[in-house]
Amino acid sequence: MSLFERKPLERILSESEGGEHTLKRSLGPASLVMLGIGAIIGAGLFSLTGIAAAENAGPAIAISFAVAAIGCTFAGMCYSEFSTMIPIAGSAYTYAYSTMGELLAWIIGWDLVLEYAVGASTVSISWSAYVVSLLHDFGIVLPAQLVASPWQPMVLPNGHTVYGIINLPAVLIVVLISLLLMRGIKESANVNGVIVVVKVAVVLVFISVGVWYIKGANYTPFIPQNTGTFGEYGWSGIMRAAGVIFFAYIGFDAVSTAAQEAKQPQRDMPIGIIGSLVICTILYILFALVLTGLVHYTQFRGVAAPVALAIEQTPFAWLKMAVKLAIIAGFTSVILVMLLGQSRVFFSMSRDGLLPKLFSDIHPKFSTPWRSNLLFMVFVSLFSAFSPISVVGHMTSIGTLLAFVIVCAGIIVMRKTQPDLPRPFRTPFVPVVPILGMLVCFSMMYSLGWANWARLIVWLVIGLCVYFGYSRKHSRIRQHVDPVTRS
Ligand code: ALA
Repeated sequence: MSLFERKPLERILSESEGGEHTLKRSLGPASLVMLGIGAIIGAGLFSLTGIAAAENAGPAIAISFAVAAIGCTFAGMCYSEFSTMIPIAGSAYTYAYSTMGELLAWIIGWDLVLEYAVGASTVSISWSAYVVSLLHDFGIVLPAQLVASPWQPMVLPNGHTVYGIINLPAVLIVVLISLLLMRGIKESANVNGVIVVVKVAVVLVFISVGVWYIKGANYTPFIPQNTGTFGEYGWSGIMRAAGVIFFAYIGFDAVSTAAQEAKQPQRDMPIGIIGSLVICTILYILFALVLTGLVHYTQFRGVAAPVALAIEQTPFAWLKMAVKLAIIAGFTSVILVMLLGQSRVFFSMSRDGLLPKLFSDIHPKFSTPWRSNLLFMVFVSLFSAFSPISVVGHMTSIGTLLAFVIVCAGIIVMRKTQPDLPRPFRTPFVPVVPILGMLVCFSMMYSLGWANWARLIVWLVIGLCVYFGYSRKHSRIRQHVDPVTRS
């Protein structure tokens, strides 16, 4: 059998039914939209918007949000088509298996660890910073060495700089959320729903209060003139900022990993994916306009909590505390959905034999892949405890963009190889939309720079070693083994 052996769609679909290794179908359209918003609004919006406005785009950061949204919408349509045709937990991994063969499927499944596990780790590090700051507001000061990684310098009140040893709050949140995920999908979705309501409410309050205090002068010039360096204002700055704030959109695709737990995936997957993307795009553009209307963009340089600075321009400074609390809650749901997506992708890879069986062991009572959750709890905790945030953040973005490029390519391949398959949702204007999706996503990957490309390549090479050392030999499709009964 070749490296490009495809898994027949009929087999994929029949395997998802019945057997002990089955997930529970309990999510409706509202839960799926909530799941998407839960994953999307987080560290990207609340931490990166101000910095990207100050360094790259000025008030035109609102245009950067629109540009990134266009790339995501193209990819989102391709995800929707696949997720209605192949409503399986493996998401992009399963789509690649049926269109481009086992090797590419493996590469994308391995790559998704960067999006989901490393993404969860990135947000847990931001979560830790906000919790430390909130506790500080209440007069509680945690020892600096216990709240940062060994790479992160911390300035003490006496002016001395120390380096962290371990980021314990980040570990704590990863452990708590992993335990919740082991408990059950329904419980996890309910907790997510509550958090989403809180964080969307705070974004809406910020927009509706802030809009009255906008100073027109802060918008002039709306697109600051380019300094002569690529990426520093002007149109190149808008594009560079789009690459940076792309992180803020990551997560809508995580909805597709819940396809096997959706009550009616054929109808509800596009609602979950595109619905959450559209809602967040509108919120993001309005948020960016209000933020840069309240404070001149130059003042956001080096400010990690731009919202707090913006609120100070209104008579409602007391809102700052509520906003911080909502941000902390908001980050929690991002971590939750990322860890959920991760365990579901490895669940599918394990059922195909490409990973050990423990990743698809389902808890007899809770119906969750609890061993997988447990393992990722340890892996992500280690990353969160000892990694600097900038590295993990960019690895998340480049890994996600690669997955988007492959999914867009997959739509074109599938239309050629299986033109007659029923497609409850059809991406419009194929191949134009997938090609544009690939181009926009690839240009954002390009803007992330060579150091991140090098990290991506190292990660993929490690993945290929695992594939040729283990997965290829254990692949069920090669052994003609039924993954449900394993005989
Ligand atoms: N989009 C998610 C965030 O911004 C990953 O935190």
